[in-house]
Amino acid sequence: MAAIEKPTGSDLQELDREHHLHPFTDHKELHEKKSRIITSADGVYIFDSDGNKILDGMSGLWCVNAGYGRDEIVDAAAAQMRELPYYNNFFQCAHPPSIELAAMLQEISQPQFNRVFFAGSGSESNDTVVRAVRRYWDLMGQPERQTIISRQNAYHGSTVAAASLGGMTPMHKQGGLIPGIEHVEQPYWFGSDRSLSPDEFGIATARSIEDKINEVGPDKVAAFIGEPVQGAGGVIIPPDTYWPEVQRICDEYGILLISDEVICGFGRMGEWFGADYYGTRPDFMPFAKGVTSGYLPLGGVMISDRVADVLIDKGGEFHHGYTYSGHPASCAVAIENIRILQREDLVERVKNDIGPYLKKGWDKLAEHPLVGEARMVGLLGALELVKTKEPMERFDEKQGVGTICRDFLVNNGLVMRAVGDTMVAAPPFILSYEEADEMIEKAWKCLDLTQQAIA
Ligand SMILES: Cc1ncc(COP(=O)(O)O)c(C=O)c1O
Repeated sequence: MAAIEKPTGSDLQELDREHHLHPFTDHKELHEKKSRIITSADGVYIFDSDGNKILDGMSGLWCVNAGYGRDEIVDAAAAQMRELPYYNNFFQCAHPPSIELAAMLQEISQPQFNRVFFAGSGSESNDTVVRAVRRYWDLMGQPERQTIISRQNAYHGSTVAAASLGGMTPMHKQGGLIPGIEHVEQPYWFGSDRSLSPDEFGIATARSIEDKINEVGPDKVAAFIGEPVQGAGGVIIPPDTYWPEVQRICDEYGILLISDEVICGFGRMGEWFGADYYGTRPDFMPFAKGVTSGYLPLGGVMISDRVADVLIDKGGEFHHGYTYSGHPASCAVAIENIRILQREDLVERVKNDIGPYLKKGWDKLAEHPLVGEARMVGLLGALELVKTKEPMERFDEKQGVGTICRDFLVNNGLVMRAVGDTMVAAPPFILSYEEADEMIEKAWKCLDLTQQAIA
């Protein structure tokens, strides 16, 4: 098909089908249907080429935290592009936005963080972490410390190193793994046999890290990586006992703690970072997404003084970096985005205003016969769809109940994501009370529709 000028509607769908390979997509399946073309957005709503208005309960891909249609951010990008659209931070150069953003990040993060290394995405940030962690231990004279412990069902990105860090087995089977990554049990109480109390389960799953350290050999373990709340794995909010025990283990064995803040960072949990929420003191905080509210791509890694000092003082050149490490327009966007979060007190709003308001409605969804558990922290929530509540029985995976529910939701004007039979949501921080009510009403209605459809 010949390219046509400014294609619209079904022409776009046709061109998409012929030429465009989407991320994480079964194209054969997609081509039997058609892709939904999102053409514009405003506030918490997206609009598609069929004229539908849909409440974006996922903030794009967990990133549009400040909401759509922010002229201040657009203006910041345009102004920066006029002034200096691109220059790199290699070869002893820097530019004002990368420097200003680096200083700003230091102000909003824990005191051990005074330095940042910029990347272009969360995956690149985690690749940076792997290299920096191993480099650190080399420089400390302990090069045998190579192993990084992660968790089953973790998501840390899609490059080879990030996918290896992650615990998604379907990803591991495609394209290979880097060596030296071990996976332990995730703190997913609802997904366990529930024979332990949540608190006991939190301790037990944290101790699986300790067991792994002892199995690998304490002098061979470099670091542990975890998302404060696992996002892509199904918004798995660990029991309160989990993170303090993880911190104890990292301290006791002297291994580095990496808090993957790609979803949890920049206010999603009602604190600037998930580590602040759980009171951990990480050495690395990879971030992306919410740093720019997704308006432009940017990632990075906050590196603690005890690590950065060694890399700087003993390391010489760190042979690592990306063309777009600290891209000026992305940094200008991040600066404006963080200013908005500060000016409008949006992190506080997630903690004490719209977060608790939405949670009240969310908790009510647990009364629906299809919902075995409703959980939410900040603006990060999950609903577990179950066949029966007592005894708690889950659906056969092959039934695809989560996908059925997701399709009802989007067709009724609400984006939520299905992770198996776990429905997840992460709306923008500017969500109003009325929009929160709309989310809950639509979720209830679509749970009803799902129940009817599978009866
Ligand atoms: C916790 C976490 N880490 C890393 C990534 C990878 O980020 P990106 O898709 O920007 O490479 C993601 C993406 O969803 C994520 O959720």
